[in-house]
Amino acid sequence: MDIYGKYKEALEAVMAHTARQIEEYGAAEQETTGEMLYEHLRYRLKSEESMVAKLQGRSLPLTAESALRGVRDAVGFRIVCRFVSDIYDNIEHIKALPGITVVEEKDYIRQVKPNGYRSYHMILEAEAPYEDTLGRNPGRFYVEVQLRTIAMDSWAALEHDMRYKHQVDNPELIGRELKRCADELASCDLSMQTIRNLIRKHAKKNGQEKA
Ligand code: GTP
Ligand code: MG
Repeated sequence: MDIYGKYKEALEAVMAHTARQIEEYGAAEQETTGEMLYEHLRYRLKSEESMVAKLQGRSLPLTAESALRGVRDAVGFRIVCRFVSDIYDNIEHIKALPGITVVEEKDYIRQVKPNGYRSYHMILEAEAPYEDTLGRNPGRFYVEVQLRTIAMDSWAALEHDMRYKHQVDNPELIGRELKRCADELASCDLSMQTIRNLIRKHAKKNGQEKA
């Protein structure tokens, strides 16, 4: 099965181009402030297997058209940051990228999911010199971006494993413990942010800030 069909090359090009754009603003920011805007950047083209499973789960036809339009995370990015404010700084940079339009935003940091999940999700439309499923050239391709702190990221990985990889004997207890853990991590993220702000304020006052 070749779910992406003739669009696979376009998706790979969109992913590579978007990655370069993010890496470029990241490097420019580091050059001017001396600090990294994100700790790591991960990205992937959703595997054939997962895409087919997702389409089947939503009773969508197993076609390239529905893989690119019915589902919007064929191309997915994860930007993992040290501090919550870095997430919002990255969002501003992403919104300013040429050829990028934001079509959806979900702020699960301010509107936390009941299970404790926190992240900021964006669905972008990226313009690329390839024909899309609607016959447009340059075409527009969906890209999902998830932005998280390191703490949010490790929590999400653990919760994901529990949900998809392991059958647990006492899901309620584990769910409760995970929720408690998510809230504690959020509290630490907040304290870390506060401490960082204090350090920065001090550095600024004493003229130690780079640039
Ligand atoms: P999909 O795009 O089909 O996933 O649905 P959606 O657009 O309604 O979902 P949403 O934007 O809320 O979430 C998209 C992705 O975020 C998921 O595929 C996961 O990678 C991640 N995600 C969302 N909620 C959770 C959660 O509760 N736990 C974990 N571990 N990941 C989550
Ligand atoms: Mg989604």
